[in-house]
Amino acid sequence: MSNNIVSVIVGTQWGDEGKGKIVDLLAEKKDFVVRFHGGNNAGHTVIVNNKKYPFHLIPSGILQPKAVGVIANGVIIDLEVLVEEIKMLQSEGMDLKKKLKVSERCHLILPFHRALDQAYENARGENRLGTTGRGIGPAMADKFSYNGLRIYELLNWNLFVEKFTFQAKIKNKIIETFAIKPIKIKEELEKISKLRKIILPFVADTYQLLKKATDQKKSILLEGAHGVMLDIDFSPYPFSTGSNVIAGAVSAGAGIPQQKISKVLGIVKAYTSRVGRGPLPTELIGKLADEIRKKGTEFGTTTGRARRVGWLDLEAVKFACEVSGISEIAITKIDILSGLENIKICVEYKLDGKPILYSSCGYTELEKLTPLYKEFSGWNEDITKVKSFKGLPKNCQDYIKFIENFLRIPVKLISTGPAREEYIRV
Ligand code: GDP
Ligand code: IMO
Ligand code: MG
Repeated sequence: MSNNIVSVIVGTQWGDEGKGKIVDLLAEKKDFVVRFHGGNNAGHTVIVNNKKYPFHLIPSGILQPKAVGVIANGVIIDLEVLVEEIKMLQSEGMDLKKKLKVSERCHLILPFHRALDQAYENARGENRLGTTGRGIGPAMADKFSYNGLRIYELLNWNLFVEKFTFQAKIKNKIIETFAIKPIKIKEELEKISKLRKIILPFVADTYQLLKKATDQKKSILLEGAHGVMLDIDFSPYPFSTGSNVIAGAVSAGAGIPQQKISKVLGIVKAYTSRVGRGPLPTELIGKLADEIRKKGTEFGTTTGRARRVGWLDLEAVKFACEVSGISEIAITKIDILSGLENIKICVEYKLDGKPILYSSCGYTELEKLTPLYKEFSGWNEDITKVKSFKGLPKNCQDYIKFIENFLRIPVKLISTGPAREEYIRV
């Protein structure tokens, strides 16, 4: 994986598979690490020398000395979050001048988007979706209805003020219909004008940067966010996020033609988790769920919410692999399963006694269906320091082999703990 010229990382489940940890690891030998979709609803954790870095916008590979971080055109940006991340890295002594590039084509998540996201959630009441509240849906809606503002407008402050004021006035009327406080246009503009000054030095033509990089056979790692089960088209909509998550989003989101992509690495967490509402066929409730949640620290990186957990769902993961053309697998958090007597994997869905594929299901079917499981005997050993596949307990090897054979995709990496050095190359 590490020497491929253009490789893509894709979350194959409902997000939080451990993408950040793998991206950091693989970025060591990369020239560029690129975010290409989503926004600061993503929360990617990297742990180096016992220090935790929660990245929301800046690519998780930025800590590696060689890698240049690129926020490409497909990403939507909340300026405050980006500035916070820039400051966090600068406070560590990192000189970001040559290390971070931000596309002028990126759309902005503005204060009224956050307000509208929360207002819609409140209005939905019991039917709320459980969004991250970061303004993703409303910002994407503005992008696609030609009402968005981009970093491009920030380059010309007068133009930005004019367009922002126009949009904010309209949005305030909508916000008032929800009986919440309108945004204060003047104050928000003052805030943005300060944030803008910090961000402008990083703005670049990232298309040309990445075009040149591919021409010169530089190595590029594209860091997917979220998970395929949240893809705006391939999730049980509206239990979705606002962007395409499948590997195909790379071309639109970074301007890299698909023929240039040499590898797609799917990240498969050894079990399932989900934040927010929506169907989760293999969900566990009760003592076992609490145990896995606690051991796996399954609490949101972005919102701190407790994540729902369940058994690994290979019917869903199989679809994610097919639709994204995944060529290699990294299994993460296998260490969390140590100590369980029995472990299950969902291998098929049945609805009304008949097999049904993930891709044929909407949310109604996903709520109703019965997952069929294969059961495995567990293992008790602590595996975080194991360095070879053969060094893993036999039952753990069998569990991993089963996943590989089921998906017919080679497992190349096994993550055995949150820290950078806790992994096995297969
Ligand atoms: P991402 O959104 O896919 O990058 O994942 P998150 O960072 O939101 O959540 C994954 C969590 O699991 C983080 O707290 C990571 O530090 C942690 N993690 C990643 N890989 C492993 C692993 O193999 N074992 C354990 N125990 N923790 C892991
Ligand atoms: P990473 O990159 C887990 C989920 C939210 C919610 C739905 C819609 O860290 O894996 P949104 O705010 O996007 O409109 O919320 O999508 N969601 C994620 N869940 N990890 C993520 O990202 C997510 N990004 C979005 O919880 O259910
Ligand atoms: Mg996350």
